[in-house]
Amino acid sequence: MTGGKVTGINSNLLKILVDGPVSQNEICYVLSEGERLMGEVIRVTEDIAFAQVFESTRGLKIGIEVEFSGHMLEVELGPGILSRIYDGLQNNLEEKPGLFLKRGEYVNALNREQRYDFVPYAKREDALRAGDWIGEVREEWLSHKIMAPFDQEGIWTVDSIEPSGSYTVTDTIATLRSNSGETKTVTMMQRWPVKRALTCFKEKPRPFRVLETGVRVIDTFNPIAEGGTGFIPGPFGCGKTVLQHAVSKNAEADIIIVAACGERANEVVELFTEFPELVDPRTGRKLMERTTIVCNTSNMPVAAREASVYTAMTIAEYYRLMGLRVLMLADSTSRWAQALREMSNRMEELPGPDAFPMDLPAIIAAFYSRAGAVRLNNGKTGSVTFLATVSPAGGNLKEPVTESTKKSARCFYALSQSRADSKRYPAVDPLDSYSKYLEYPEIVRYLDEHLEPNWVDKVLELKNWTQRGKEANDQINILGDDGVPIGYHTVFWKSETIDFVLMQQDAFDVVDSVTPYERQKYMVDLVLEICAHEYEFDSFEKVATYFKRLINSLRQMNYSDFQSEEFKRHEAELAEIINERAALEEAAQ
Ligand SMILES: Nc1ncnc2c1ncn2[C@@H]1O[C@H](COP(=O)(O)OP(=O)(O)OP(=O)(O)O)[C@@H](O)[C@H]1O
Ligand SMILES: [Mg+2]
Repeated sequence: MTGGKVTGINSNLLKILVDGPVSQNEICYVLSEGERLMGEVIRVTEDIAFAQVFESTRGLKIGIEVEFSGHMLEVELGPGILSRIYDGLQNNLEEKPGLFLKRGEYVNALNREQRYDFVPYAKREDALRAGDWIGEVREEWLSHKIMAPFDQEGIWTVDSIEPSGSYTVTDTIATLRSNSGETKTVTMMQRWPVKRALTCFKEKPRPFRVLETGVRVIDTFNPIAEGGTGFIPGPFGCGKTVLQHAVSKNAEADIIIVAACGERANEVVELFTEFPELVDPRTGRKLMERTTIVCNTSNMPVAAREASVYTAMTIAEYYRLMGLRVLMLADSTSRWAQALREMSNRMEELPGPDAFPMDLPAIIAAFYSRAGAVRLNNGKTGSVTFLATVSPAGGNLKEPVTESTKKSARCFYALSQSRADSKRYPAVDPLDSYSKYLEYPEIVRYLDEHLEPNWVDKVLELKNWTQRGKEANDQINILGDDGVPIGYHTVFWKSETIDFVLMQQDAFDVVDSVTPYERQKYMVDLVLEICAHEYEFDSFEKVATYFKRLINSLRQMNYSDFQSEEFKRHEAELAEIINERAALEEAAQ
């Protein structure tokens, strides 16, 4: 085993003189007065290694010893991950009193004593590839697949497999042998280096299905594909976290992995306290039963923050190999990028724009490319959909993290300060935001088949009204209410109807917060019908009064259970207002 001595300390970055081979991203332990602090090698030049320590380096001295472990930063994968709250190094935070661990303390991610009822799928002499399902255990409500070792090369044969029964994650449940006669034992737990994607599947086709989130600005206007990528940039306090939580509560996903990287400590505590109580509206199960949280707060060292997004992604990929739909959320990836920046600066690398590392776009692209829908060796499908937030300083969308992310993520949900200021939540800007999936033939076909033929035309019609409404409003602002034809006001109010009824959504109302596609379609049709009508108003004041009444009834509908008595009452009110107007216009002719 390689060892070394610390020859330089710059905050969390250690310079180490090594006495043997060391590899990039290898994990090392700094031995200081009985403590073992974990670190990761981030650069090697001849006999000097630079390592970032995942802990506070307070009190470390030149000359102390370092041990190199021979492996990269790894996670433990196996039953018992679901519902856990981990830090970026996969320490189980609930196993310890208090929220945070003391320096140098690491806790097993998986419980070594707990027994799980294993049911074998494979039999003796079966041929297995890496990731093939050997059997299953029940992990709470989930059929958790036990898989052939991810690092296995080629095809191995089952030599022996244990019968159904209760086992711990470290008990041997099978032995495999290779063509060349090597053997290996299989347990329910595996390790995997977090910075390497888990790719033991057959293929990764282009996304071909939409992931329903129940959030109208996403589903109706800019849908995200299952296995797709999206991000939410927005100034401080504009609703990034609320929007992401709304998606996590309602999205059609089996498993949710949340990477809370470097948010304020109190927000993480909110996650702890709010998540356990939340109920999944689709299954009636507690939301936490299908969620794993990987959290780091900004008071943890930067290196741990950098690790957390990778840890979360690896866990997401693991569940994807079980044929599940995984939604991975990261809030906020700007903190992750800042961690990269701090380390790069300490290493005195040549800086890129705003002192971020030169290869920031490549790092972000590599990360986003780990998402995706996959076809497994057994023909089943699984997916990791990735939705991140970015917090650009001062809301400047031209800064490097936003720009780099824009190149990688296919959906862009830009939050606007002015919409947030006027309480138009979620504050997603209707004109700046986009979903590239609306141009994917697979997704268009999916919408045609699952919603209705030519659905995307309706979406484009809504966007067109929004654009025209903005232009009309600009003219009204320049020329005054009286200075433009009344028709401008009508166009503007049509776009306001789309805004108030379809885009705005109350994340804190039980009914309004979740809108299934069927209901979204219903409301889109109502609103488009209103937009299609040509009105003849004789004063601009009347335009506003009329549309405000329509909007009020439509919003009441949004707050009522779909097709309930109450819903129908408001719908009848709406029809009455529309008929009243039609009668007036007819009389005037
Ligand atoms: N959909 C919504 N419905 C109602 N209120 C909302 C909605 N979205 C955001 N808000 C309001 O905006 C506040 C700030 O939202 P949030 O914490 O999500 O912002 P943020 O962009 O994550 O901020 P930060 O940059 O500080 O992390 C919320 O506490 C809430 O009052
Ligand atoms: Mg936030």
